[in-house]
Amino acid sequence: MAAAIRNLVDRFQNHSETLPREPSAGEIQELRDKYEKSDQSQVFAFFDELSQTEKTRLFHQLSNFDPIRINELADKALNPPKAEETSVSLEPLPEVATASILDSDPKDIQYYYDEGLNLVAENKVAVVLLAGGQGTRLGSSQPKGCFDIGLPSHKSLFQIQAERIAKLQLLAKKKSGKDSLIPWYVMTSGPTRKPTEEYFQEHNYFGLDKSNVFIFEQGVLPCISNEGKILLESKSKVAVAPDGNGGIYQALLTSGVREDMRKRGIKHIHAYCVDNCLVKVADPVFIGFAASKKVDIATKVVRKRNATESVGLILQKNGKPDVVEYSEIDKETAEAKDPKNPSLLKFRAANIVNHYYSFEFFDSIETWAHKMPHHIARKKIPCVNTESGEIVKPEKPNGIKLEQFVFDVFPLLSLEKFASIEVRREDEFSPLKNARGTGEDDPDTSKRDIMNQGQRWIENAGGVILTEADAVGVEVSPLISYGGEGLEFLKGREIKAPAIIEKEE
Ligand code: UD1
Repeated sequence: MAAAIRNLVDRFQNHSETLPREPSAGEIQELRDKYEKSDQSQVFAFFDELSQTEKTRLFHQLSNFDPIRINELADKALNPPKAEETSVSLEPLPEVATASILDSDPKDIQYYYDEGLNLVAENKVAVVLLAGGQGTRLGSSQPKGCFDIGLPSHKSLFQIQAERIAKLQLLAKKKSGKDSLIPWYVMTSGPTRKPTEEYFQEHNYFGLDKSNVFIFEQGVLPCISNEGKILLESKSKVAVAPDGNGGIYQALLTSGVREDMRKRGIKHIHAYCVDNCLVKVADPVFIGFAASKKVDIATKVVRKRNATESVGLILQKNGKPDVVEYSEIDKETAEAKDPKNPSLLKFRAANIVNHYYSFEFFDSIETWAHKMPHHIARKKIPCVNTESGEIVKPEKPNGIKLEQFVFDVFPLLSLEKFASIEVRREDEFSPLKNARGTGEDDPDTSKRDIMNQGQRWIENAGGVILTEADAVGVEVSPLISYGGEGLEFLKGREIKAPAIIEKEE
Protein backbone atom coordinates (compact mmCIF):
# COMPACT_ATOMS: atom_id res chain seq x y z
CA MET A 1 0.00 0.00 0.00
CA ALA A 2 2.73 2.45 1.02
CA ALA A 3 4.45 2.29 -2.37
CA ALA A 4 1.36 3.10 -4.25
CA ILE A 5 0.56 5.92 -1.88
CA ARG A 6 4.05 7.26 -2.24
CA ASN A 7 3.98 7.20 -6.00
CA LEU A 8 0.66 8.86 -6.00
CA VAL A 9 1.86 11.63 -3.72
CA ASP A 10 4.82 12.12 -6.06
CA ARG A 11 2.52 12.57 -8.98
CA PHE A 12 0.19 14.93 -7.18
CA GLN A 13 3.01 17.17 -6.13
CA ASN A 14 4.24 17.57 -9.64
CA HIS A 15 1.38 19.19 -11.47
CA SER A 16 3.11 19.02 -14.81
CA GLU A 17 3.00 15.21 -14.70
CA THR A 18 0.42 13.31 -16.64
CA LEU A 19 -2.87 12.56 -15.01
CA PRO A 20 -3.39 8.97 -13.88
CA ARG A 21 -5.78 6.80 -15.90
CA GLU A 22 -9.44 7.83 -15.84
CA PRO A 23 -11.47 5.23 -13.89
CA SER A 24 -14.62 3.63 -15.33
CA ALA A 25 -18.07 4.21 -13.77
CA GLY A 26 -17.98 0.61 -12.50
CA GLU A 27 -14.64 1.11 -10.79
CA ILE A 28 -15.86 4.29 -9.12
CA GLN A 29 -19.00 2.53 -7.86
CA GLU A 30 -16.94 -0.36 -6.50
CA LEU A 31 -14.70 2.04 -4.57
CA ARG A 32 -17.69 3.98 -3.26
CA ASP A 33 -19.24 0.74 -1.99
CA LYS A 34 -16.00 -0.16 -0.23
CA TYR A 35 -15.89 3.17 1.65
CA GLU A 36 -19.64 3.05 2.30
CA LYS A 37 -19.35 -0.40 3.90
CA SER A 38 -16.56 0.93 6.12
CA ASP A 39 -18.70 3.88 7.18
CA GLN A 40 -16.26 6.28 5.50
CA SER A 41 -18.48 7.44 2.63
CA GLN A 42 -17.92 11.13 3.58
CA VAL A 43 -14.78 11.08 1.43
CA PHE A 44 -17.13 11.03 -1.58
CA ALA A 45 -19.26 13.91 -0.24
CA PHE A 46 -18.32 16.28 -3.09
CA PHE A 47 -17.33 13.74 -5.71
CA ASP A 48 -20.22 14.44 -8.08
CA GLU A 49 -19.44 18.16 -8.26
CA LEU A 50 -15.71 17.69 -9.02
CA SER A 51 -14.10 18.19 -12.43
CA GLN A 52 -13.07 15.03 -14.29
CA THR A 53 -9.40 15.64 -13.40
CA GLU A 54 -10.20 16.04 -9.72
CA LYS A 55 -12.38 12.92 -9.77
CA THR A 56 -9.58 10.91 -11.31
CA ARG A 57 -7.04 12.15 -8.77
CA LEU A 58 -9.29 11.53 -5.77
CA PHE A 59 -10.20 8.10 -7.12
CA HIS A 60 -6.55 7.11 -7.28
CA GLN A 61 -5.70 8.58 -3.90
CA LEU A 62 -8.58 6.68 -2.27
CA SER A 63 -7.79 3.46 -4.15
CA ASN A 64 -4.49 3.34 -2.38
CA PHE A 65 -5.94 3.20 1.11
CA ASP A 66 -7.74 0.25 2.61
CA PRO A 67 -10.62 1.77 4.64
CA ILE A 68 -11.03 -1.42 6.67
CA ARG A 69 -7.40 -1.28 7.76
CA ILE A 70 -7.65 2.47 8.43
CA ASN A 71 -10.70 1.81 10.65
CA GLU A 72 -8.76 -0.85 12.57
CA LEU A 73 -5.81 1.48 13.10
CA ALA A 74 -8.05 4.38 14.11
CA ASP A 75 -10.03 2.23 16.50
CA LYS A 76 -6.89 0.88 18.17
CA ALA A 77 -5.41 4.36 18.42
CA LEU A 78 -8.57 6.09 19.67
CA ASN A 79 -9.71 3.31 22.02
CA PRO A 80 -6.55 1.81 23.51
CA PRO A 81 -7.03 -0.91 26.15
CA LYS A 82 -7.38 0.65 29.62
CA ALA A 83 -4.21 0.62 31.73
CA GLU A 84 -5.75 -1.81 34.24
CA GLU A 85 -6.49 -4.29 31.43
CA THR A 86 -2.82 -4.47 30.43
CA SER A 87 -0.15 -5.41 32.88
CA VAL A 88 3.13 -3.70 32.08
CA SER A 89 6.38 -4.35 33.82
CA LEU A 90 9.14 -1.84 33.11
CA GLU A 91 12.73 -2.43 34.14
CA PRO A 92 16.09 -1.11 33.00
CA LEU A 93 17.82 -3.40 30.49
CA PRO A 94 19.72 -6.23 32.17
CA GLU A 95 23.50 -5.85 32.34
CA VAL A 96 24.06 -8.64 29.80
CA ALA A 97 22.42 -6.49 27.13
CA THR A 98 24.40 -3.35 27.93
CA ALA A 99 27.94 -2.04 27.62
CA SER A 100 29.47 1.34 28.17
CA ILE A 101 32.21 3.21 26.36
CA LEU A 102 32.71 5.12 29.60
CA ASP A 103 34.04 2.23 31.65
CA SER A 104 35.10 -0.30 28.99
CA ASP A 105 38.65 -1.54 28.70
CA PRO A 106 40.26 0.61 25.95
CA LYS A 107 41.46 -2.67 24.36
CA ASP A 108 37.82 -3.71 23.85
CA ILE A 109 36.97 -0.38 22.24
CA GLN A 110 40.01 -0.68 19.96
CA TYR A 111 38.91 -4.21 19.05
CA TYR A 112 35.42 -3.02 18.11
CA TYR A 113 36.90 -0.12 16.12
CA ASP A 114 39.22 -2.42 14.15
CA GLU A 115 36.44 -4.91 13.48
CA GLY A 116 34.07 -2.14 12.39
CA LEU A 117 36.62 -0.49 10.12
CA ASN A 118 37.40 -3.86 8.51
CA LEU A 119 33.69 -4.25 7.73
CA VAL A 120 33.62 -0.75 6.22
CA ALA A 121 36.69 -1.65 4.16
CA GLU A 122 34.94 -4.80 2.92
CA ASN A 123 31.99 -2.61 1.75
CA LYS A 124 29.60 -4.37 4.10
CA VAL A 125 28.34 -1.28 5.91
CA ALA A 126 25.52 1.06 4.84
CA VAL A 127 23.98 4.12 6.39
CA VAL A 128 20.28 5.04 6.57
CA LEU A 129 19.35 8.59 7.46
CA LEU A 130 15.89 9.34 8.84
CA ALA A 131 15.13 12.76 7.40
CA GLY A 132 11.38 12.77 6.83
CA GLY A 133 10.52 14.98 9.81
CA GLN A 134 9.32 18.52 9.27
CA GLY A 135 11.20 20.12 12.16
CA THR A 136 8.11 21.92 13.45
CA ARG A 137 9.76 22.82 16.78
CA LEU A 138 12.80 24.32 15.02
CA GLY A 139 10.52 26.59 13.02
CA SER A 140 12.49 26.35 9.76
CA SER A 141 10.69 25.75 6.49
CA GLN A 142 13.69 23.89 5.00
CA PRO A 143 14.43 20.24 5.74
CA LYS A 144 16.41 20.12 9.01
CA GLY A 145 19.48 18.68 7.29
CA CYS A 146 19.93 21.92 5.30
CA PHE A 147 20.14 23.95 8.51
CA ASP A 148 23.24 26.08 9.14
CA ILE A 149 23.93 25.91 12.89
CA GLY A 150 26.30 28.87 12.65
CA LEU A 151 29.69 27.13 12.51
CA PRO A 152 32.56 29.24 11.12
CA SER A 153 32.37 27.11 7.94
CA HIS A 154 28.56 27.47 7.75
CA LYS A 155 28.32 23.78 6.88
CA SER A 156 24.83 22.30 7.08
CA LEU A 157 23.99 19.14 9.02
CA PHE A 158 23.81 17.19 5.73
CA GLN A 159 27.29 18.37 4.77
CA ILE A 160 28.80 17.47 8.14
CA GLN A 161 27.34 13.97 7.87
CA ALA A 162 28.44 13.53 4.25
CA GLU A 163 32.00 14.56 5.11
CA ARG A 164 32.13 12.06 7.97
CA ILE A 165 31.16 9.35 5.47
CA ALA A 166 33.84 10.55 3.06
CA LYS A 167 36.48 10.56 5.80
CA LEU A 168 35.56 7.10 7.02
CA GLN A 169 35.86 5.76 3.48
CA LEU A 170 39.38 7.19 3.39
CA LEU A 171 40.30 5.73 6.79
CA ALA A 172 39.07 2.32 5.61
CA LYS A 173 41.01 2.65 2.36
CA LYS A 174 44.14 3.56 4.27
CA LYS A 175 43.75 0.38 6.28
CA SER A 176 42.90 -2.04 3.48
CA GLY A 177 44.52 -0.40 0.47
CA LYS A 178 41.27 -0.81 -1.47
CA ASP A 179 38.54 1.68 -2.33
CA SER A 180 35.79 1.59 0.23
CA LEU A 181 32.18 2.69 -0.30
CA ILE A 182 29.54 3.44 2.26
CA PRO A 183 26.17 3.82 0.55
CA TRP A 184 24.02 6.53 2.11
CA TYR A 185 20.24 6.00 1.97
CA VAL A 186 18.35 9.18 2.85
CA MET A 187 14.69 8.75 3.78
CA THR A 188 12.58 11.82 3.13
CA SER A 189 8.83 12.43 3.19
CA GLY A 190 6.35 14.22 0.90
CA PRO A 191 7.27 17.64 2.32
CA THR A 192 11.06 17.09 2.52
CA ARG A 193 11.87 15.05 -0.61
CA LYS A 194 12.10 17.73 -3.27
CA PRO A 195 14.02 20.32 -1.23
CA THR A 196 16.40 17.59 -0.02
CA GLU A 197 17.06 16.37 -3.58
CA GLU A 198 17.63 19.91 -4.78
CA TYR A 199 19.95 20.68 -1.88
CA PHE A 200 22.08 17.60 -2.55
CA GLN A 201 22.25 18.44 -6.27
CA GLU A 202 23.16 22.10 -5.64
CA HIS A 203 25.98 20.98 -3.36
CA ASN A 204 27.19 18.29 -5.70
CA TYR A 205 26.45 15.58 -3.13
CA PHE A 206 29.08 17.19 -0.89
CA GLY A 207 31.83 15.45 -2.81
CA LEU A 208 30.39 11.95 -2.42
CA ASP A 209 29.88 9.76 -5.45
CA LYS A 210 26.28 10.44 -6.51
CA SER A 211 25.74 6.77 -7.32
CA ASN A 212 26.16 5.94 -3.63
CA VAL A 213 23.56 8.41 -2.37
CA PHE A 214 19.90 7.35 -2.55
CA ILE A 215 17.12 9.72 -1.66
CA PHE A 216 13.81 7.94 -1.15
CA GLU A 217 10.45 8.68 0.38
CA GLN A 218 8.42 7.25 3.23
CA GLY A 219 4.67 6.61 2.98
CA VAL A 220 1.68 8.59 4.19
CA LEU A 221 -1.48 7.77 6.11
CA PRO A 222 -4.81 9.61 6.11
CA CYS A 223 -5.57 12.02 8.96
CA ILE A 224 -8.53 10.94 11.07
CA SER A 225 -11.11 12.97 12.99
CA ASN A 226 -11.57 12.43 16.74
CA GLU A 227 -14.58 10.32 15.74
CA GLY A 228 -12.52 8.04 13.51
CA LYS A 229 -13.51 9.56 10.15
CA ILE A 230 -11.02 10.09 7.32
CA LEU A 231 -10.62 13.85 6.84
CA LEU A 232 -10.61 15.69 3.52
CA GLU A 233 -8.05 18.46 3.05
CA SER A 234 -10.12 19.85 0.18
CA LYS A 235 -13.19 18.63 -1.65
CA SER A 236 -10.97 16.57 -3.92
CA LYS A 237 -8.14 15.47 -1.66
CA VAL A 238 -7.73 13.39 1.48
CA ALA A 239 -5.71 15.01 4.29
CA VAL A 240 -2.57 12.89 4.71
CA ALA A 241 0.56 12.95 6.88
CA PRO A 242 3.88 11.07 6.77
CA ASP A 243 3.64 7.73 8.59
CA GLY A 244 6.34 8.48 11.19
CA ASN A 245 9.98 7.43 11.25
CA GLY A 246 8.80 3.83 11.73
CA GLY A 247 7.62 4.08 8.11
CA ILE A 248 11.26 3.33 7.29
CA TYR A 249 10.76 -0.44 7.21
CA GLN A 250 7.97 -0.41 4.65
CA ALA A 251 9.80 2.28 2.68
CA LEU A 252 12.97 0.16 2.53
CA LEU A 253 10.93 -2.42 0.64
CA THR A 254 8.86 -0.18 -1.60
CA SER A 255 11.73 2.09 -2.59
CA GLY A 256 14.01 -0.78 -3.57
CA VAL A 257 16.59 0.22 -0.95
CA ARG A 258 16.74 -3.21 0.61
CA GLU A 259 17.31 -4.80 -2.77
CA ASP A 260 20.09 -2.35 -3.47
CA MET A 261 21.69 -3.29 -0.14
CA ARG A 262 21.41 -6.96 -1.02
CA LYS A 263 23.04 -6.44 -4.43
CA ARG A 264 25.93 -4.62 -2.79
CA GLY A 265 26.43 -7.34 -0.19
CA ILE A 266 25.63 -5.04 2.75
CA LYS A 267 25.56 -6.88 6.08
CA HIS A 268 25.46 -4.11 8.68
CA ILE A 269 23.36 -0.96 8.74
CA HIS A 270 23.59 2.20 10.83
CA ALA A 271 20.39 4.28 11.00
CA TYR A 272 20.27 7.69 12.65
CA CYS A 273 18.41 10.98 13.04
CA VAL A 274 19.21 13.99 10.89
CA ASP A 275 19.31 16.49 13.74
CA ASN A 276 22.29 15.30 15.77
CA CYS A 277 25.35 17.34 14.75
CA LEU A 278 27.68 15.01 16.67
CA VAL A 279 26.43 11.79 15.07
CA LYS A 280 29.23 9.35 14.26
CA VAL A 281 27.91 8.16 10.95
CA ALA A 282 28.70 4.44 10.39
CA ASP A 283 30.74 4.52 13.62
CA PRO A 284 33.22 1.62 13.40
CA VAL A 285 33.10 1.11 17.19
CA PHE A 286 29.32 0.71 17.08
CA ILE A 287 29.36 -1.52 14.02
CA GLY A 288 32.19 -3.64 15.47
CA PHE A 289 30.41 -3.89 18.84
CA ALA A 290 27.09 -5.02 17.31
CA ALA A 291 28.69 -7.36 14.76
CA SER A 292 30.84 -9.08 17.36
CA LYS A 293 27.81 -9.56 19.65
CA LYS A 294 25.97 -11.05 16.63
CA VAL A 295 22.78 -9.16 17.50
CA ASP A 296 19.98 -8.14 15.13
CA ILE A 297 19.58 -4.67 16.60
CA ALA A 298 21.84 -2.54 18.74
CA THR A 299 21.40 0.97 19.96
CA LYS A 300 23.43 3.76 21.52
CA VAL A 301 22.30 5.54 24.66
CA VAL A 302 23.46 8.49 26.73
CA ARG A 303 22.58 9.24 30.32
CA LYS A 304 19.29 11.17 30.50
CA ARG A 305 19.92 14.77 31.60
CA ASN A 306 16.96 14.99 33.96
CA ALA A 307 13.49 13.55 34.41
CA THR A 308 11.91 15.96 31.92
CA GLU A 309 14.37 15.76 29.00
CA SER A 310 12.49 15.03 25.75
CA VAL A 311 14.12 11.69 25.01
CA GLY A 312 12.78 8.16 24.81
CA LEU A 313 14.04 5.63 27.34
CA ILE A 314 15.57 2.33 26.33
CA LEU A 315 14.47 -0.35 28.77
CA GLN A 316 12.81 -3.73 28.99
CA LYS A 317 9.05 -3.97 28.96
CA ASN A 318 7.59 -7.30 29.95
CA GLY A 319 11.01 -8.87 29.42
CA LYS A 320 11.52 -7.50 25.89
CA PRO A 321 13.74 -4.64 24.73
CA ASP A 322 11.62 -1.53 24.22
CA VAL A 323 11.49 2.25 24.28
CA VAL A 324 9.06 4.36 26.25
CA GLU A 325 8.75 7.60 24.34
CA TYR A 326 8.90 10.94 26.18
CA SER A 327 5.46 11.86 24.89
CA GLU A 328 3.96 8.72 26.43
CA ILE A 329 5.80 8.30 29.74
CA ASP A 330 4.06 8.88 33.07
CA LYS A 331 5.57 11.19 35.68
CA GLU A 332 6.13 8.43 38.20
CA THR A 333 8.23 6.35 35.79
CA ALA A 334 10.15 9.39 34.55
CA GLU A 335 11.05 10.45 38.09
CA ALA A 336 11.70 6.99 39.61
CA LYS A 337 15.09 6.74 41.36
CA ASP A 338 17.59 3.93 41.04
CA PRO A 339 17.19 1.88 44.24
CA LYS A 340 20.93 1.10 44.18
CA ASN A 341 21.88 4.75 43.76
CA PRO A 342 19.09 7.19 44.59
CA SER A 343 21.04 10.12 43.16
CA LEU A 344 20.41 8.62 39.71
CA LEU A 345 17.19 8.14 37.74
CA LYS A 346 16.10 4.51 37.57
CA PHE A 347 15.39 4.84 33.85
CA ARG A 348 18.23 6.91 32.44
CA ALA A 349 19.25 5.20 29.18
CA ALA A 350 18.26 7.96 26.75
CA ASN A 351 17.53 6.96 23.17
CA ILE A 352 19.67 8.97 20.74
CA VAL A 353 18.31 7.24 17.62
CA ASN A 354 21.53 5.55 16.61
CA HIS A 355 20.36 2.10 15.66
CA TYR A 356 22.30 -0.82 14.24
CA TYR A 357 20.56 -3.53 12.18
CA SER A 358 21.90 -6.73 10.71
CA PHE A 359 20.92 -7.13 7.07
CA GLU A 360 19.50 -10.50 8.05
CA PHE A 361 16.95 -8.70 10.20
CA PHE A 362 15.97 -6.40 7.34
CA ASP A 363 15.51 -9.50 5.26
CA SER A 364 12.52 -10.46 7.41
CA ILE A 365 10.64 -7.11 7.26
CA GLU A 366 7.64 -8.72 5.53
CA THR A 367 7.08 -11.03 8.48
CA TRP A 368 6.80 -8.29 11.12
CA ALA A 369 6.21 -4.82 9.62
CA HIS A 370 2.42 -5.23 9.81
CA LYS A 371 2.66 -5.97 13.54
CA MET A 372 4.10 -2.56 14.38
CA PRO A 373 1.70 -0.39 16.38
CA HIS A 374 0.52 3.09 15.45
CA HIS A 375 0.82 6.01 17.82
CA ILE A 376 -1.44 8.99 17.76
CA ALA A 377 -0.54 12.63 17.65
CA ARG A 378 -3.51 14.91 18.31
CA LYS A 379 -3.26 17.82 15.89
CA LYS A 380 -5.07 20.80 14.48
CA ILE A 381 -5.81 19.50 11.00
CA PRO A 382 -7.23 21.95 8.44
CA CYS A 383 -10.06 20.16 6.65
CA VAL A 384 -13.36 20.50 4.85
CA ASN A 385 -16.63 20.14 6.71
CA THR A 386 -18.18 17.36 4.63
CA GLU A 387 -21.70 18.58 5.35
CA SER A 388 -21.37 22.33 4.71
CA GLY A 389 -18.37 22.27 2.39
CA GLU A 390 -16.68 24.98 4.48
CA ILE A 391 -12.94 24.95 5.12
CA VAL A 392 -12.24 24.44 8.83
CA LYS A 393 -9.09 25.92 10.38
CA PRO A 394 -9.31 24.45 13.88
CA GLU A 395 -8.03 26.27 16.95
CA LYS A 396 -7.75 23.13 19.03
CA PRO A 397 -6.88 19.56 18.01
CA ASN A 398 -9.69 18.19 15.87
CA GLY A 399 -8.14 14.93 14.82
CA ILE A 400 -5.21 12.57 14.86
CA LYS A 401 -2.22 11.72 12.74
CA LEU A 402 -1.13 8.12 12.90
CA GLU A 403 2.58 7.48 13.23
CA GLN A 404 4.88 4.53 13.57
CA PHE A 405 8.05 4.79 15.63
CA VAL A 406 11.32 3.38 14.36
CA PHE A 407 12.04 1.63 17.67
CA ASP A 408 8.76 -0.26 17.78
CA VAL A 409 10.52 -3.26 16.28
CA PHE A 410 12.64 -3.71 19.41
CA PRO A 411 10.05 -5.81 21.30
CA LEU A 412 9.95 -8.27 18.43
CA LEU A 413 13.39 -9.42 19.54
CA SER A 414 14.51 -11.44 22.52
CA LEU A 415 17.06 -9.74 24.80
CA GLU A 416 19.82 -11.99 23.39
CA LYS A 417 19.40 -10.45 19.95
CA PHE A 418 19.55 -6.88 21.25
CA ALA A 419 22.42 -4.84 22.67
CA SER A 420 22.85 -1.32 23.87
CA ILE A 421 25.99 0.69 24.37
CA GLU A 422 26.34 3.83 26.45
CA VAL A 423 28.36 6.61 24.82
CA ARG A 424 29.57 10.03 25.93
CA ARG A 425 26.98 12.71 25.37
CA GLU A 426 29.61 15.37 24.72
CA ASP A 427 31.05 13.25 21.91
CA GLU A 428 27.92 11.85 20.32
CA PHE A 429 24.67 13.63 21.10
CA SER A 430 23.66 17.22 20.58
CA PRO A 431 20.29 17.31 18.83
CA LEU A 432 18.82 20.30 17.07
CA LYS A 433 15.20 20.44 18.14
CA ASN A 434 14.34 24.00 19.11
CA ALA A 435 14.58 27.48 17.63
CA ARG A 436 17.57 29.73 18.38
CA GLY A 437 17.37 31.36 21.79
CA THR A 438 15.72 28.43 23.56
CA GLY A 439 19.04 27.59 25.25
CA GLU A 440 18.46 23.86 24.96
CA ASP A 441 18.96 21.64 21.92
CA ASP A 442 19.01 24.70 19.66
CA PRO A 443 21.41 25.92 16.93
CA ASP A 444 23.68 27.61 19.50
CA THR A 445 24.06 24.48 21.63
CA SER A 446 24.76 22.43 18.46
CA LYS A 447 27.48 24.86 17.40
CA ARG A 448 28.94 25.04 20.92
CA ASP A 449 29.14 21.25 21.18
CA ILE A 450 30.98 20.88 17.84
CA MET A 451 33.40 23.70 18.72
CA ASN A 452 34.08 22.28 22.19
CA GLN A 453 34.66 18.82 20.77
CA GLY A 454 37.18 20.19 18.26
CA GLN A 455 38.99 21.99 21.05
CA ARG A 456 39.17 18.81 23.17
CA TRP A 457 40.51 16.82 20.21
CA ILE A 458 43.24 19.38 19.52
CA GLU A 459 44.24 19.63 23.16
CA ASN A 460 44.42 15.81 23.34
CA ALA A 461 46.73 15.91 20.32
CA GLY A 462 49.01 18.39 22.11
CA GLY A 463 47.77 21.63 20.53
CA VAL A 464 47.27 24.75 22.64
CA ILE A 465 44.05 26.74 22.32
CA LEU A 466 44.20 30.42 23.19
CA THR A 467 40.88 31.91 24.21
CA GLU A 468 39.91 35.53 24.67
CA ALA A 469 36.70 36.80 26.26
CA ASP A 470 33.89 34.41 25.36
CA ALA A 471 35.45 33.08 22.14
CA VAL A 472 35.36 29.32 22.40
CA GLY A 473 36.29 26.27 20.49
CA VAL A 474 37.63 25.07 17.19
CA GLU A 475 35.71 23.62 14.29
CA VAL A 476 37.64 20.65 12.93
CA SER A 477 36.47 19.68 9.47
CA PRO A 478 35.27 16.06 9.36
CA LEU A 479 37.48 15.74 6.26
CA ILE A 480 40.48 16.22 8.59
CA SER A 481 39.30 14.10 11.51
CA TYR A 482 36.39 11.69 11.91
CA GLY A 483 36.67 11.16 15.66
CA GLY A 484 39.71 13.05 16.94
CA GLU A 485 42.34 10.98 15.09
CA GLY A 486 45.01 12.39 12.78
CA LEU A 487 45.56 15.72 14.54
CA GLU A 488 49.18 15.09 15.54
CA PHE A 489 50.27 17.77 13.07
CA LEU A 490 48.85 20.34 15.53
CA LYS A 491 51.10 19.20 18.39
CA GLY A 492 52.69 22.20 20.10
CA ARG A 493 50.85 24.66 17.84
CA GLU A 494 48.99 27.61 19.31
CA ILE A 495 45.52 28.19 17.91
CA LYS A 496 43.44 31.24 18.69
CA ALA A 497 39.78 30.43 19.26
CA PRO A 498 37.37 30.53 17.57
CA ALA A 499 39.15 28.81 14.72
CA ILE A 500 38.55 26.34 11.95
CA ILE A 501 40.87 23.53 10.90
CA GLU A 502 40.26 22.64 7.27
CA LYS A 503 43.70 21.69 6.01
CA GLU A 504 46.60 19.64 7.30
CA GLU A 505 49.13 22.39 7.36
C1 UD1 B 1 13.32 11.06 18.63
C2 UD1 B 1 13.07 9.68 19.26
C3 UD1 B 1 13.28 9.77 20.77
C4 UD1 B 1 14.72 10.21 20.99
C5 UD1 B 1 14.98 11.57 20.35
C6 UD1 B 1 16.46 11.94 20.44
C7 UD1 B 1 11.54 8.48 17.81
C8 UD1 B 1 10.13 8.13 17.52
N1 UD1 B 1 11.73 9.25 18.89
O1 UD1 B 1 12.33 11.92 19.18
O2 UD1 B 1 13.03 8.53 21.39
O3 UD1 B 1 15.03 10.27 22.38
O4 UD1 B 1 14.63 11.52 18.94
O5 UD1 B 1 16.75 13.07 19.73
O6 UD1 B 1 12.45 8.04 17.13
N2 UD1 B 1 11.38 11.44 10.97
C9 UD1 B 1 11.11 10.86 9.76
N3 UD1 B 1 9.80 10.72 9.38
C10 UD1 B 1 8.76 11.14 10.15
C11 UD1 B 1 9.04 11.72 11.40
C12 UD1 B 1 10.36 11.87 11.79
O7 UD1 B 1 12.03 10.46 9.04
O8 UD1 B 1 7.60 10.96 9.74
C13 UD1 B 1 12.79 11.58 11.37
C14 UD1 B 1 13.19 13.02 11.62
O9 UD1 B 1 13.57 13.64 10.42
C15 UD1 B 1 14.33 12.85 12.60
C16 UD1 B 1 13.94 11.57 13.37
O10 UD1 B 1 12.99 10.89 12.59
O11 UD1 B 1 15.56 12.64 11.96
C17 UD1 B 1 13.39 11.86 14.76
O12 UD1 B 1 12.24 12.64 14.61
P1 UD1 B 1 11.80 13.75 15.66
O13 UD1 B 1 10.39 14.03 15.43
O14 UD1 B 1 12.76 14.84 15.70
O15 UD1 B 1 11.96 12.89 16.99
P2 UD1 B 1 11.89 13.31 18.50
O16 UD1 B 1 10.48 13.58 18.84
O17 UD1 B 1 12.87 14.33 18.85
